[in-house]
Amino acid sequence: MGKSVAIIATGIGKTFSMGKQTVTALRDVSLSLPAGTLTALTGPSGSGKSTLLHLIAGLERVDSGNLNVLGNQVHACSAAELAALRLREIGFVHQDFSLLADLTLVENVRLPLEATGVARDEATTSALEAMARVGLRGLEQRFPAEVSGGQQQRAAIARAIVGNRTLVLADEPTGSLDSKTGSEIMDVLAQLRDEGVTVVLSTHNPANLSHADQVAVLHDGTLLSFDAIEGDTA
Ligand SMILES: Nc1ncnc2c1ncn2[C@@H]1O[C@H](COP(=O)(O)OP(=O)(O)O)[C@@H](O)[C@H]1O
Ligand SMILES: [Mg+2]
Repeated sequence: MGKSVAIIATGIGKTFSMGKQTVTALRDVSLSLPAGTLTALTGPSGSGKSTLLHLIAGLERVDSGNLNVLGNQVHACSAAELAALRLREIGFVHQDFSLLADLTLVENVRLPLEATGVARDEATTSALEAMARVGLRGLEQRFPAEVSGGQQQRAAIARAIVGNRTLVLADEPTGSLDSKTGSEIMDVLAQLRDEGVTVVLSTHNPANLSHADQVAVLHDGTLLSFDAIEGDTA
């Protein structure tokens, strides 16, 4: 049985202009990511990792090439279509958690559902489920400042999957964490992958690559290599 493909990039490019200067953030990148796999994007600072995640998320638009995300030709989508896709189907996890400080963890996690018009009770039920999946049972009523960095990142991951969204994009999700906590967060993401979620993350940490099904190495906006990781045994 062939796996379905979550993301297909074909020759995508992205340039930023700042005044008279232009920066080529991505150049002719092609890759295909099967659904239900974990992909690590790696490469030095400035190599284009965040830009690629932002393009997949629909936060930025490609300048050239084709990009298909979950069956949507996002290079051809309107801004409204992109926003709807992002809200309904894509979760984004940042290095710095970006939880709202004045909301409890469960209130943070249910926000994306409330934003799509889901009733509060139903959103809360889904948020509790998502929190249980990432190991946060019992901490639902805490505020972000009352839990550890690792627990805040788990809450950010719960917010990314709430409502059974199946694509999680994580930009340096372990970058603010100590190595033990970072490794626990990678275990959470790998477990979600095992449950069928498609995970794409960027990382500087070589230890994180062992969790990946495939590793894309970027350098100066070019895809240097894209390799499946074989025989990753526990
Ligand atoms: N919004 C932006 N405006 C101008 N330049 C940008 C912008 N975003 C990224 N870049 C540039 O694009 C290149 C790739 O950046 P980025 O994708 O953030 O790399 P990485 O995440 O691998 O560190 C860098 O040269 C960066 O300065
Ligand atoms: Mg980055």
